[in-house]
Amino acid sequence: MANVTFSSPLLHKDVTVYAVAGDRGTILSVAEKHKIPIPFECRDGECGSCLCEIVTLTGKTMGSMLTDKEKSLLKSLGKISHAEIARAETDDVMPKYRLACQTIVRDQDILVKFAGDEPGGAE
Ligand code: FES
Repeated sequence: MANVTFSSPLLHKDVTVYAVAGDRGTILSVAEKHKIPIPFECRDGECGSCLCEIVTLTGKTMGSMLTDKEKSLLKSLGKISHAEIARAETDDVMPKYRLACQTIVRDQDILVKFAGDEPGGAE
């Protein structure tokens, strides 16, 4: 089961949606399906507009699956450290920041925070 809660100044209140198995896709696609206005441009891990802060709400650690492209963009935005990359790759721990268009929703509850104004503004 995967509850995905979206939190943003663009939303009146936090919105939690249930992403069912086989219908999960990326955080961005789940957001679009539920009309959550995460900004995006390229959908391909290149522009950084869909940057989100992710908080894992369940005890499980399921967070890696970082592509080289996502890693290098997050690095260039200053949003991921070498230690976070190492933890993601060896212990499957979700880094604090991810690209919504590149992050597959998995079987865990997460909080997704996005600023919705400018790339890198998901504070
Ligand atoms: S939409 Fe461009 S990086 Fe996600």
